[in-house]
Amino acid sequence: MAEEKRFTKATWMIMEALLDVDNLEDALSGSLEIIVKTLNSEAGAIWLLDPATDKLTPMFNIGAGDIANITVDNGSGIEGLVTKSGESIVLNDPASDSRYEGSVFEEAGIIAKSMLCVPLNNLHNVIGCVQIVNKKDGTKYDDEELTLCEHMAALAAITIEEKGLSIDLGEDKEVLAELRNVTKDFQSGDGVVQVLKGINLDIYKNEFVVILGESGCGKSTLMNIVGGMDFLTMGSLKIEGKDFSHPDDATLTAYRRDYIGYIFQSYNLMPNLTALENVEFIAELVSNPMSSEEAIEKVGLKDRADNYPGQMSGGQQQRVSIARAIVKRPKLILADEPTAALDYATSIEVLSVIEDIVKNYGTTVLMVTHNAEIAKMANRVVKLRSGKVASIKRNLYPARATELVW
Ligand SMILES: Nc1ncnc2c1ncn2[C@@H]1O[C@H](COP(=O)(O)OP(=O)(O)OP(=O)(O)O)[C@@H](O)[C@H]1O
Ligand SMILES: [Mg+2]
Repeated sequence: MAEEKRFTKATWMIMEALLDVDNLEDALSGSLEIIVKTLNSEAGAIWLLDPATDKLTPMFNIGAGDIANITVDNGSGIEGLVTKSGESIVLNDPASDSRYEGSVFEEAGIIAKSMLCVPLNNLHNVIGCVQIVNKKDGTKYDDEELTLCEHMAALAAITIEEKGLSIDLGEDKEVLAELRNVTKDFQSGDGVVQVLKGINLDIYKNEFVVILGESGCGKSTLMNIVGGMDFLTMGSLKIEGKDFSHPDDATLTAYRRDYIGYIFQSYNLMPNLTALENVEFIAELVSNPMSSEEAIEKVGLKDRADNYPGQMSGGQQQRVSIARAIVKRPKLILADEPTAALDYATSIEVLSVIEDIVKNYGTTVLMVTHNAEIAKMANRVVKLRSGKVASIKRNLYPARATELVW
């Protein structure tokens, strides 16, 4: 009885999540979260079929690290079988089930012990599936749990139909940075604290990735490792396919200098140099800069080029620090809470500049923020929890900076 009540409540919550939003991605990822929680499971994913390639891609996942770049052929694997046949599959002993050929979840370090996979059935065709893995208490999935999952999938499919979502998974993207099982230990008092606990993440070229997570969960530590400002303890980091796990000093210096643009919460400008001089100072260090005037103009500070930092507002100073980052023509910009010290209107100005850089310079941006509203701008949103990737969400339609409200 208690079980029934819990499920009714979950169904209502999913319905509300689906009815109440204007953003389908939020609705689907929200429903997946509800169902993973209600079924007390380790991980879950929503797979969508790309009719152009007849392949399935995980649109959202929870608890499974980065499986976003994995595709499965329609018809093969559990996800493909369910999508092709339109029939649910309950696997309570995957290891000895002939339909099971290993799971993508294994790539994320999760051994499947039990699994539910139900089709997303859109009246005329199956557009993907919902997959839930491993009950935390070790018990198997029962019929009622299957029914709940099927209800959620039906509600989700109806919503997709109603809201007229067309699924555009985009073409395959090139990987810029690849992190595998990255850990980071810090010495703390007499002991060692593991701050990153096995991060798996791909960052694609010309992608805008936002990292969310509670204070202390390891966001800045992760950025520092990708930015060559700190070293990983275990695991591997590749940059454009080349191993970058333990770079030598010369490689590291060149990487930091030419490849990365940094934007921090504090602007770190030199007080005795003007805006333009702050940018020129950096431009002189790198091999292929844009003109400092162009960088200053790009961030809308042409009229302020001769001002010293002390004569500028916080937002203007932050824009100088963006100019300083882009003048290098870096492939990757790392921005750690770039708007945390700014008011709303100024934040939007600064975010508009960042948006522009991604669109017009093909730069990849990795940005940490505490503000979930800003995450709407991203192509993908990575949530960290206690040093692990808790979820990854794609935004099919990233918001413009000017559309954000908080
Ligand atoms: N150099 C260091 N030595 C020891 N511990 C560290 C060091 N740097 C970070 N830590 C610890 O690692 C954990 C993660 O820190 P990190 O700065 O990555 O968190 P964060 O997610 O960026 O938090 P915030 O949102 O507050 O900026 C924290 O508990 C922090 O105290
Ligand atoms: Mg931080």
